[in-house]
Amino acid sequence: MSTALRGTGLHKSYRRGSEEVHALRGVSIGVQPGEMVALLGRSGSGKTTLLNCLLGWEVPDTGEVSVPGAATPGSAAWTTVAVVPQRFGLLDELTLADNVAMPARLAGLPDPHAAALGALETLRLGHLAARMPDEVSLGEQQRTALARALVVAPAFLVADEPTGRLDEDLTAHVLGTLREHCAHTGCGVLLASHDPVVIASADRVVRLHDGVVVPG
Ligand SMILES: Nc1ncnc2c1ncn2[C@@H]1O[C@H](COP(=O)(O)OP(=O)(O)OP(=O)(O)O)[C@@H](O)[C@H]1O
Ligand SMILES: [Mg+2]
Repeated sequence: MSTALRGTGLHKSYRRGSEEVHALRGVSIGVQPGEMVALLGRSGSGKTTLLNCLLGWEVPDTGEVSVPGAATPGSAAWTTVAVVPQRFGLLDELTLADNVAMPARLAGLPDPHAAALGALETLRLGHLAARMPDEVSLGEQQRTALARALVVAPAFLVADEPTGRLDEDLTAHVLGTLREHCAHTGCGVLLASHDPVVIASADRVVRLHDGVVVPG
């Protein structure tokens, strides 16, 4: 059985009335444990659609997705595939610490609160642990979503533009943190972005253009 998180021959179209958008037109992609793959492409090129298919959040029209350790993509535990969604998905009524502690609690970590504080600290957010999401900036919310993904040391991390709200210095820090995380835990990271700066941090770049993978 393959150890890679893999999508093969993925097609996905959206129909709105008489209009049909071909978001993915036969995309194949794989992420091995321990490698960091950057998925680059302009806005509308299909990055989020591809990630959502790999996560089982959307069902491709045709093609296959396989997630090591999960019978179906949608049934993968957070410890198998953790996600940083493009819109973060934090719970408004929980502090940043409690948001990050949630998956640690569900995964049965011995001290979820301490694990959450550690993950927040790594992303330079320790001083904001007791704040609510609407009491911090969008960049801070985004890094909280990343802390929530990393706290359980997942086998794979799927992150949708995780540096989209960050300045240059924090972008470099987040990319460095992800690199280190890959090296230490063997996590396979798939990171969608339209920012060419991620290229330097990635082991490999996959470029999407209008729903197809293009060379270079
Ligand atoms: N639910 C939907 N209904 C109709 N069209 C959709 C839907 N979701 C996405 N699309 C279209 O599919 C194409 C790919 O969208 P997608 O969100 O995957 O792009 P993206 O590369 O993630 O863009 P961005 O960088 O702006 O996040 C776009 O043309 C988009 O308008
Ligand atoms: Mg997107």
